[in-house]
Amino acid sequence: MRRVTLTQFLVGRQQSNGINADLRLLVETIARACKAISTRVNKGALADGPAGPATSNVHGELQKKLDVLSNEILLEANVWGGNLAAFASEEEEKPVPITEPYKRGEYLLLIDPLDGSSNIDVNISVGTIFSVLRCPKTPEGKFCEPEEAAFLQPGSRQVAAGFAVYGPTTVFVLSVGDGVHAFTLDRETYTFVLTHPEIRVPTETAEFAINASNMRRWEPPVKRYIDECLAGSEGPRGKDFNMRWVASMVADVFRVLWRGGIFMYPRDSKQKEGRLRLMYEANPMSFIVEQAGGAATDGRTRILDIQPQSLHQKVPVILGSREEVERVTSYHR
Ligand code: AHG
Ligand code: MN
Ligand code: MN
Repeated sequence: MRRVTLTQFLVGRQQSNGINADLRLLVETIARACKAISTRVNKGALADGPAGPATSNVHGELQKKLDVLSNEILLEANVWGGNLAAFASEEEEKPVPITEPYKRGEYLLLIDPLDGSSNIDVNISVGTIFSVLRCPKTPEGKFCEPEEAAFLQPGSRQVAAGFAVYGPTTVFVLSVGDGVHAFTLDRETYTFVLTHPEIRVPTETAEFAINASNMRRWEPPVKRYIDECLAGSEGPRGKDFNMRWVASMVADVFRVLWRGGIFMYPRDSKQKEGRLRLMYEANPMSFIVEQAGGAATDGRTRILDIQPQSLHQKVPVILGSREEVERVTSYHR
């Protein structure tokens, strides 16, 4: 079989007018940054030296946590390309506009530079999540100032979204609005190769992912759904379910894409807004899952229809195989 690299895939999309040259370059730049993060994640404790992470480097600077480092890698990779108007991140309180001497472009990039970072010390998969929006225009047709307000667009307006998983292999999952495709990093050629074209979330499933330690605080609809799964073949579902919780959304969602099932981080009596961030976790993942034939809601509303009120706002997340998501959502209604 002929190998298709991410670059070839994107050039193909550009030639069929699926994306423009700027978006192609932006996605390639993000993917390049993900390769650099993957390499750094792979070094693990070796990168910190024998004294461990609390030491300072030769310049006397405190060695940086990997979330901050990943944020810097992504920002530095993207700042000079000329295709971004601004960059927003879990690690930045406010959006970072592109300023002189760099050229400003038409896109807004939102990222979770390192998702699942609590897993890094224990050698469990982590990842990077990204979402791309267009910078809105003024009535005169000029690009708006890329401040927070420019970013506050529902997820249905994303022009591209995806994530990387730094696991046993590094996988880059992408949608530019025509399906979901995943690329595996070939460490010999340092290229992403298309290995999972046209991913579709399986409809037949018997797996759920939720942090069950919050069970006593869940709302009744979520409790009901999980109780029914746990009742197994003797319960109303008439089959046994399996439970998985990596605590890295990237790894949990990749599993859902490939094996089906449901992933939930619902609101509970302690985390009243939920735990995950709407704009750089829930929206890009919901875009991907919908593009693969699945569904994503907050229990009541389609996530991609939610009008964001602030950059770092949180949202309950229920995503995965369509029928399962519809079932939990119907329990809320
Ligand atoms: P981040 O590391 O970017 O803060 O995100 C972690 C998120 C998500 O990846 C995961 O599903 C969830 O937090 C894990 O939450 P618990 O620690 O409650 O399991
Ligand atoms: Mn995260
Ligand atoms: Mn993070």
